Amino acid sequence: MNERQATPQSDLSWRGMEPSNLLEVCSCGHGDDHDPILVESRRRYLETRREAGLEVVVAHLGDRPLGFAQTVPIQMVARDVQGEGGVFLHCVNVFEQGRGVGRALIGEVLRRAEGKGQGVVVDACADVWGFMPEEFFSRLGFSTAQARGRRRLMYLGLPAGTCLPQYLEPRYEPPRPADEQVGAEVVVDVFFTPLCTGLVSEEAAVMRKAAEAYGNRVSVREWNAGDPEVRKRFGIARAIFVNGVMRPNDDTISLEEAAGLVAGALNRPIPDQAVWDDSISRLF
Ligand SMILES: CC(C)(COP(=O)(O)OP(=O)(O)OC[C@H]1O[C@@H](n2cnc3c(N)ncnc32)[C@H](O)[C@@H]1OP(=O)(O)O)[C@@H](O)C(=O)NCCC(=O)NCCS
Repeated sequence: MNERQATPQSDLSWRGMEPSNLLEVCSCGHGDDHDPILVESRRRYLETRREAGLEVVVAHLGDRPLGFAQTVPIQMVARDVQGEGGVFLHCVNVFEQGRGVGRALIGEVLRRAEGKGQGVVVDACADVWGFMPEEFFSRLGFSTAQARGRRRLMYLGLPAGTCLPQYLEPRYEPPRPADEQVGAEVVVDVFFTPLCTGLVSEEAAVMRKAAEAYGNRVSVREWNAGDPEVRKRFGIARAIFVNGVMRPNDDTISLEEAAGLVAGALNRPIPDQAVWDDSISRLF
């Protein structure tokens, strides 16, 4: 741990999502710089999935939220993973880092899973701007079940005899001009997970805005990884394909980039096979 003063774990209390932490949780810790539509979309999704087992655990120091973790039963996770015997830790987010709050949060998540005879699975990243860092989870005792690009599917505390979690095999075919259902020169397929954005896909909204100038020549489709049929058919939770070519970037898409992707596709033949960008951790 760094030199910052550790928060004594006995001072922390555990709450669910509630008015005192709603903004911090639904803005992923960006309460002072947030998009209200996205916050509301996340809130609605998190609340409506509670009965299905989605759980938000918030670490509090008094009334002050210090960080949160979000879990979901692994069988119904809106991501490109499959597994059993565990909860899937979709995210952990600490607002005041380096004080032991992350360790305490994961400890609480593990305790709750253990209480149900289960373990915890997490999709961590190696070297992606500190995003769900693999080293943090290794430090806490997690092992790696599978690696894909810079992603690491990790687990801890799974019951004996449980099959290890796995990534789904992604499948995607470029659109065919002869396909009557398509009928556009450029087809944009946006895959998104509602665990991140709720039922609103920001990326689809940006792609649609970029497509506006071309009318019916460009079609933008959204694929929600919360739908088991989408997961089964594509095995993809997050990606953008423009006429079969995967967007080679994992940062939030800007309108300028989206417009460039559409314009580029209008001037290029559709490839026979999908073009993947495997250099990035984009497929989640
Ligand atoms: C990763 C994260 C949860 C760690 O929380 P934290 O409260 O800062 O971590 P802690 O202080 O509890 O540290 C626990 C241990 O992990 C280590 N650790 C923490 N972050 C680490 C990192 N990025 N890499 C390697 N080790 C790390 C600490 O050194 C400490 O080790 P020690 O106790 O053995 O000395 C936090 O940095 C975070 O929220 N990052 C963003 C995560 C993210 O991308 N969330 C999704 C957003 S949508």
